[in-house]
Amino acid sequence: MRGEMLRNDRRRREVRVLLVDESREALAALNKQFTFADVVVAGESAFGPVAYTWANQLKPDIVVVAVEDPVARALKTVELLSRGQPRWPVIVVSSLSDHDNLRKAMVAGADDHIPRSADPEDLHTAILALFAREQQRQELEASGGAAPFYTGTIICVFGVKGGIGKTTLSTNLAASIAVESKQRVVLVDLDLQFGDVALMMNTPPEKTILDVVEALHTLDSDLVDGFLAKHSSGVRVLPAPVHVDGSEQITGDHVRKVLGELASVYDYVILDTPGGLNETVLAALDMSNLILLVTTPEFLCVKRTKACLDLMRQWQYSEEKVKLVINKANGRSGANPEDIVGVLRYPAFWKLPLDPAADSVIGPGGLVVQDRTKARAEMARSIFDLTRKILGANGTNGHGLVDKMTQKFFLARR
Ligand SMILES: Nc1ncnc2c1ncn2[C@@H]1O[C@H](COP(=O)(O)OP(=O)(O)OP(=O)(O)O)[C@@H](O)[C@H]1O
Ligand SMILES: [Mg+2]
Repeated sequence: MRGEMLRNDRRRREVRVLLVDESREALAALNKQFTFADVVVAGESAFGPVAYTWANQLKPDIVVVAVEDPVARALKTVELLSRGQPRWPVIVVSSLSDHDNLRKAMVAGADDHIPRSADPEDLHTAILALFAREQQRQELEASGGAAPFYTGTIICVFGVKGGIGKTTLSTNLAASIAVESKQRVVLVDLDLQFGDVALMMNTPPEKTILDVVEALHTLDSDLVDGFLAKHSSGVRVLPAPVHVDGSEQITGDHVRKVLGELASVYDYVILDTPGGLNETVLAALDMSNLILLVTTPEFLCVKRTKACLDLMRQWQYSEEKVKLVINKANGRSGANPEDIVGVLRYPAFWKLPLDPAADSVIGPGGLVVQDRTKARAEMARSIFDLTRKILGANGTNGHGLVDKMTQKFFLARR
């Protein structure tokens, strides 16, 4: 499988960086910060055209440029590196905190900016995140698709086991995001073989993702809405193929293109997924801005989630991108949330309660977040609170997780 091969290649690779600073002493000080096992310093350079020459010679994955007062030469170097042909991904480190200089660095073409005073781990995270984005862009180019420009946020609900609440969360989250944000939301069923999103949303699958894939060569953003079913919450739904064998025709490249089209029209693209990895899921995970990795307290599920987190680390997915959701967190069986976090060595972003009332209203057309009679159900409250945490306290107010990610995302796409 191609996706697997690409990942194996990713797994083997250390991220190679070129450091650019004004003097030998400054370079030595910058170099000292690079104590990360998966990032190696491939070379060092002074400012100016020489940095571009070194980049072309060493072919680093990322160039880290120090920008201090006076900023002119450093910014010119950033511009050479990021606007040249070939261009190099650039992270600026700087002790200048004024907005004007930061803006100038971004205008010069920097992909990210890290303050000197930040924890070295922040620089590490920024390097891995930028590297992952670059890899994704290159994979897309290699597959013949130009990187589509889209502004929508892609949120993938994923987990490595069946029956752990992925569909419960993705369907309810889509509806609550539509209500809270009052923006356009589409829910895509990527459980291509056995997806039950259409059933849960009570939207008969007149057209499915297979129809969109077959129309991809003529599809544009004006037409895409015609393929989607409309749920009473306002959420648009793209169901999985009706027949199991329909799913075999859909590849990772198809998924990338479909999600690109949807995210250029919709503000939020929510993905439901099957309980395991395959080529189409990998494509979706790569494209996602946020992955809600669902686990339950069962031993088997925690064990698999640990293996999955290890893989995601190897793929350089950041902690910002992958958020752990413990479902049925207060259940009587299995480990308690603190133990799960300890075993996984990963923070819990959210804990969804085991809610027997939730279970009884979950069924065709009965979303927990829409059920007025059960409006006080713990589960519904928890999903609305989770939505607000993702969007920001007052919807899209610039302080939510998505807002932070979107800012980075725009910088990444400049
Ligand atoms: N927090 C919860 N409290 C009570 N019941 C829940 C909770 N979360 C999910 N369930 C129930 O667990 C069952 C499985 O949920 P769901 O279908 O969402 O899992 P899934 O991960 O999508 O499974 P699959 O991979 O098979 O599609 C459903 O009956 C659902 O109602
Ligand atoms: Mg499901």
